[in-house]
Amino acid sequence: VPGEPASHSRITIGKGFLAELPALIEPYLNGRSPFWIWDQKVLLGWRQQLLDWGWPDPLQDAKVIPFVASEAEKRLAAIEQLASTLILRGADRGAMLIAVGGGVTGDVAGFLSSIYMRGIPCLQVPTTLLAQVDSSVGGKTGVDLELGKNLLGTFHQPRAVWIDMQFLESLPVEEFRQGMAEVIKTAMIGDARLWEHLELNREAIGGRDPEALLQMVSACVRLKAEVVRQDARESGLRRVLNLGHTVGHALEKVSAYTVRHGDAVAIGMVAAAKLSLLRGKLQEGVLERLRALCGDWELPVGIPAEFRIEDILSSLQADKKIFGGILHFILPVSIGRVDEEDDLSMVELAEVLASMQCK
Ligand SMILES: NC(=O)c1ccc[n+]([C@@H]2O[C@H](COP(=O)([O-])OP(=O)(O)OC[C@H]3O[C@@H](n4cnc5c(N)ncnc54)[C@H](O)[C@@H]3O)[C@@H](O)[C@H]2O)c1
Ligand SMILES: [Zn+2]
Repeated sequence: VPGEPASHSRITIGKGFLAELPALIEPYLNGRSPFWIWDQKVLLGWRQQLLDWGWPDPLQDAKVIPFVASEAEKRLAAIEQLASTLILRGADRGAMLIAVGGGVTGDVAGFLSSIYMRGIPCLQVPTTLLAQVDSSVGGKTGVDLELGKNLLGTFHQPRAVWIDMQFLESLPVEEFRQGMAEVIKTAMIGDARLWEHLELNREAIGGRDPEALLQMVSACVRLKAEVVRQDARESGLRRVLNLGHTVGHALEKVSAYTVRHGDAVAIGMVAAAKLSLLRGKLQEGVLERLRALCGDWELPVGIPAEFRIEDILSSLQADKKIFGGILHFILPVSIGRVDEEDDLSMVELAEVLASMQCK
């Protein structure tokens, strides 16, 4: 990734290398002392397996810090608490953090590593589908404020990312579904082959077949890594990753986050496709294929009746005021191709959203 200084993350994707992880990270430590921040749920769930593989007991290890990961914990208070624990356990400027968990753990540990003693390197080991295909790649870190999500944060590229399909074995179906929305998004942005893989292999992917997962996750990572490489700080191209997120975020907010991110993004993608259709840009059949693929994963494609379109529009307007004036919309054109529009009117948006409201 270009920048000052230029940095790069080595991303390794595979199945079943977890047993060897401590040995695999060794070359990346450069003499640094590793401190692990593990999602507590993942740690407890995988502990016996780790012991069977000959890892030292993580619960007896001062260099392993369990973290109770949930969106509510993604706050500055968690950063302060983890930092204090690190100090008490002897982590100095020669330490390196290793985040093992979903997007919350990765964002918190990544943020902490970017400011701990003015910054130490980190490694990411994502354990949710969302973290594997999205949040562990690209170096965005951060925490939430009462006023909104991800309002404090940094860009801090991990030295390396290890993505093992094995973790997905224990991921609850609901979390898997949420991650699938980002997978569908990625295919729509730039990978028609991935889209076909999704259409043809619903059973294998849902059954967590490691080969089918590997093909899917690596396609997503490749695309995200390429976009980030070209636009590390989101000045342009990286915005394509926001397909479905403008309406999605507005809906999440209006619902006070009872609508989950993946569900909101699915609805947002359908809205984007309908806007594109309204403008005569969308290739025939794309909207139907998007709806069908979302349906495969029980992702919603309509706006639940309890949310008012006016509220979603005001939330969009508020975002627009806060974030620089223009509403950027990424619109699908065909499977694997999108376009950026920044001259959409509220009237067009209102029309599309109204057409999506469930009765
Ligand atoms: N940095 C970025 O670029 C970026 C991009 C997208 C999203 N995010 C952030 O990611 C966060 C969401 O991430 P998430 O969906 O991974 O949530 P999460 O980290 O809260 O994980 C979801 C749940 O799954 C559990 N879990 C994790 N791995 C598991 C496993 N292998 N087996 C069983 N349970 C497991 C967790 O304990 C948690 O309960 C949000 O805060 C979002 O803002 C960041
Ligand atoms: Zn997202």
